[in-house]
Amino acid sequence: MNLAEMKQQFDAIRQDVLAALETVQTLKEVEQIRVQQLGKKGPITEVLKNIKNIVPEERPQVGALANELRSVIEEKIASIKADLEAKALVESLRKETIDVTMPGRPMTVGTKHVLSHVSDEVEDFFIGLGYQVVEGPEVESDHYNFEMMNLPKDHPARDMQDTFYITPEYLLRTQTSPVQARTMEKHDFSKGPLKMISPGRVFRRDNDDATHSHQFYQIEGLVIDKHITMADLKGTLAAFAKELFGQEREVRLRPSYFPFTEPSLEVDITCFKCGGQGCSICKGTGWIEILGSGMVHPNVLEAAGVDSSVYGGFAFGLGQDRIAMLKYGIEDIRSLYTNDVRFLNQFTK
Ligand code: DAH
Repeated sequence: MNLAEMKQQFDAIRQDVLAALETVQTLKEVEQIRVQQLGKKGPITEVLKNIKNIVPEERPQVGALANELRSVIEEKIASIKADLEAKALVESLRKETIDVTMPGRPMTVGTKHVLSHVSDEVEDFFIGLGYQVVEGPEVESDHYNFEMMNLPKDHPARDMQDTFYITPEYLLRTQTSPVQARTMEKHDFSKGPLKMISPGRVFRRDNDDATHSHQFYQIEGLVIDKHITMADLKGTLAAFAKELFGQEREVRLRPSYFPFTEPSLEVDITCFKCGGQGCSICKGTGWIEILGSGMVHPNVLEAAGVDSSVYGGFAFGLGQDRIAMLKYGIEDIRSLYTNDVRFLNQFTK
């Protein structure tokens, strides 16, 4: 092989490679061509193997031709790579573009349950007066739910509360009152008075209808100290009723019966709908009952180990469901438990 033939072969390689590079689409293909053409097993190296047949004076020219061919190919590859990289960048920027004018996805925000609104409001009021908030178990013993609350086994007032018994001794609490007994037992009266409220769920064997539910919520209240009188009860509950239902409400105490208080009473407020004229909410009476209350029965104090000749106090119990229904004009207690968001979302406050 002579110089002219080698030159011809180099030209053929140049044409082949440049043609192949014309059609590449990806950086991977470019790299493949680079390795194939410029590598140790590539065509240029093959041609150069024939250099031993060339007269020595012409050999430098062969080297020069090969180097020139290599650099032509390398430059072409570099420019194609640069083009492809620029295109890839533009493409990825295009794909990542965010259309800030697109409408956002709506976020569903929940609301506090209406019963939580009530318990929060009641808690805030009593915490402000220095009461502690105490919780008690929903599965309760007959002992705390009834016996300690002055309701021995044969007491007729047990029929006032239809009970879910689990065993003869354990039941689902029918009232939050047992938390009174639990807290009194533990309280150290040498450190000061006991002032507590206890919100929580209670259960009764009732058939559910618009005004009855087999589970509902109560808030229990208890104050025990020396020299507590009914005036304390009236002042506290009047302030509470005004806080919840408006400052212009008047309060009336009506005699009633609960086994754990003596005397017992029910607290009524003037109707917030008609102001006392008489309407459908107050059933024409002008008054609405909001809670039960009374002076703690000495038997309840003694059962919890509190000396009833020294200490006394008042207690009250209110139905959160009833308060919620009155306050927000809810007609069916079941809507508090069926979790229809269209109902629940109304109470955003
Ligand atoms: N536990 C009573 C009930 O469920 C409510 C109640 C009334 C609680 C008077 C009291 C109270 O503490 O003094 O019907």
